[in-house]
Amino acid sequence: MSNALNKTATAPATGPVLAVENLRTSFLVDGAWKPVVRDISFTVMPGETVAIVGESGSGKSVTSLSIMRLLQPDMSKIEGKVMLGGRDLLALPEHEMRKVRGNDVAMIFQEPMTSLNPLLTIGDQISEALLSHLPISRADARAETIRILEKVRIPSAASRFDEYPHRFSGGMRQRVMIAMALATKPSLLIADEPTTALDVTIQGQILDLIKMLQEEEGTSVLFITHDMGVVAEIADRTVVMYRGEQVETGPTADIFHRGQHP
Ligand SMILES: Nc1ncnc2c1ncn2[C@@H]1O[C@H](COP(=O)(O)OP(=O)(O)O)[C@@H](O)[C@H]1O
Ligand SMILES: [Mg+2]
Repeated sequence: MSNALNKTATAPATGPVLAVENLRTSFLVDGAWKPVVRDISFTVMPGETVAIVGESGSGKSVTSLSIMRLLQPDMSKIEGKVMLGGRDLLALPEHEMRKVRGNDVAMIFQEPMTSLNPLLTIGDQISEALLSHLPISRADARAETIRILEKVRIPSAASRFDEYPHRFSGGMRQRVMIAMALATKPSLLIADEPTTALDVTIQGQILDLIKMLQEEEGTSVLFITHDMGVVAEIADRTVVMYRGEQVETGPTADIFHRGQHP
């Protein structure tokens, strides 16, 4: 008992992994700046899952792409602050930002096939991701890849190492994407509708997998979805967006309790 108390007393006071402050993103449309995300602010604490939920077109993907600075620079303007471990990502030079994308923050998307190279085997893709981040040999990268594939519950992982993405089902491809995302042990995983293209059973399996890995690795997750059922399943706290604005933020249970927005 006193052990638990000691632990609390000596735990370092850690701040948020991610703090988004007054994020505003505009696109150049017909020569004028059109804001599509307005004044979004939220935090993601260590080990926490925060959902951004909203109907299609409400600005969820633009928010996640703005955080990662993956929008075309000459056609977009991102204002506000995106604090990651004490650094404002919006103020970093692009070469620093590239390191952040590979190491500190990982992303998974709705359609895993578009992020997998159809010409490379599953095993080679994960190995390459490892080799580009870690000072390890090819043999070690292969062993680590198989370990990761087992971890994301790919059956007969060792024998599937040399298979190409088209041989994998949608659910299995998303498992591979999760494996690649977590290979470099990021502090934050951004998942933009990662289960939307999957059927309901597989969707549940992928959510369980993300939850399990998150608990094991302590990764924080920013989970983007239009589906309130998914939110209830996965999120500690929820940000509700509507037409580019943040209309509610709070513990997921409270959002469901109030549920004022369509
Ligand atoms: N590159 C772009 N140029 C202009 N408008 C865009 C661009 N990308 C997205 N939008 C607009 O921004 C709004 C939000 O889109 P998005 O973030 O993709 O919505 P969601 O992910 O919530 O479905 C939409 O109205 C969309 O048409
Ligand atoms: Mg979207």
